[in-house]
Amino acid sequence: MKVLVTGGAGYIGSHTICELLDHGMEVVSADNFQNAVPETFERIEAITGQKVVNENLDLSEVKACQILFEQHPDITAIIHFAARKAVGESVEKPLVYYRNNLNSTINLLHFGTLAGVKHLVFSSSCTVYGNPGNQPVDEDSPVGNIESPYGYTKMMGEQILRDHIHSHPSFSGISLRYFNPVGAHPSGKLGELPLGKPNNLVPFITETAIGLRPCLEVFGADYDTPDGTPIRDYVHVVDIAKAHVQALLHIQQSDQRERFEVFNLGTGKGMSVLEIIQAFEQATGVALNYRFSPRRAGDVETIYANADKAAQVLKWQPEYSLETMMASAWKWQQHLANQR
Ligand SMILES: NC(=O)c1ccc[n+]([C@@H]2O[C@H](COP(=O)([O-])OP(=O)(O)OC[C@H]3O[C@@H](n4cnc5c(N)ncnc54)[C@H](O)[C@@H]3O)[C@@H](O)[C@H]2O)c1
Repeated sequence: MKVLVTGGAGYIGSHTICELLDHGMEVVSADNFQNAVPETFERIEAITGQKVVNENLDLSEVKACQILFEQHPDITAIIHFAARKAVGESVEKPLVYYRNNLNSTINLLHFGTLAGVKHLVFSSSCTVYGNPGNQPVDEDSPVGNIESPYGYTKMMGEQILRDHIHSHPSFSGISLRYFNPVGAHPSGKLGELPLGKPNNLVPFITETAIGLRPCLEVFGADYDTPDGTPIRDYVHVVDIAKAHVQALLHIQQSDQRERFEVFNLGTGKGMSVLEIIQAFEQATGVALNYRFSPRRAGDVETIYANADKAAQVLKWQPEYSLETMMASAWKWQQHLANQR
């Protein structure tokens, strides 16, 4: 099986490539490095001993996507990570988000199907549930009332995939709704590497702890939660990566119940921002300097997953503890510091 991994230089894509190679799958990546660095592929090689071809092109451009499938006519499945993902930025630049995220998905489905691709696994997000009242959320929880254009690109991406599958009986797809992927590869050689100021909590924590940033900003202390900070479901990135292998194995089975299926990927445990800060300090022994800032546009109050469906159907269960999530992220940040 030859798998096209879009966004293969990115955080989750790179960890997933390691898992796919570990399972003997052939991989080609397509990433234009708008939010990643080319050295990621050297890091993947250091871990797996295998070189991965990356096509440096913008998937939101029709011609580039067409050429990609002409150059790789033997792709059987796509895992589609490539997207812009900063919730706050999407509120400021909605058209950039709609153009990049939606056009990429449409181009991949169009040219992929013409080239004989049979399956697509889509990177969705818990943001599709908006600001849900009832917790934990399962896959039947209502989708909508979304707080950001980014979230709408995920909801629309799912709908585009669903409609495409409906009109193409030989095509099937899975949408994986990630909650909050954190942590880094156990080797310490691969992890999240945001370009510029981090939008996600854990890289913000580790960059502050290592001294790259003077102070960690906690956005909002007045939420209706026990300690006033937002609650999320943090899940190790390697667990998320492994779910993609399970999704590919499942999607190839002829008895797959539905041709389009949706799965939550989370641990089922809600943790506040302050609890994560505490977990980091306990796991690493490093004290963090933090202060409260106003709420950030697009952030919801509380969300955590019911991931029973992924356990039952994909045979997937998260294995890594919160302590390992924090310790591995810190090991990665220290590895980066030693390279400077
Ligand atoms: N990290 C999270 O917290 C999180 C949570 C839920 C869902 N997701 C989704 O998972 C996917 C991967 O997230 P990530 O954290 O690895 O992000 P990332 O930014 O690290 O990786 C995405 C990669 O896609 C590339 N890319 C973006 N647009 C492209 C385009 N038009 N053409 C070619 N390459 C392009 C970027 O250069 C980047 O390397 C995204 O779709 C994201 O929305 C992420």
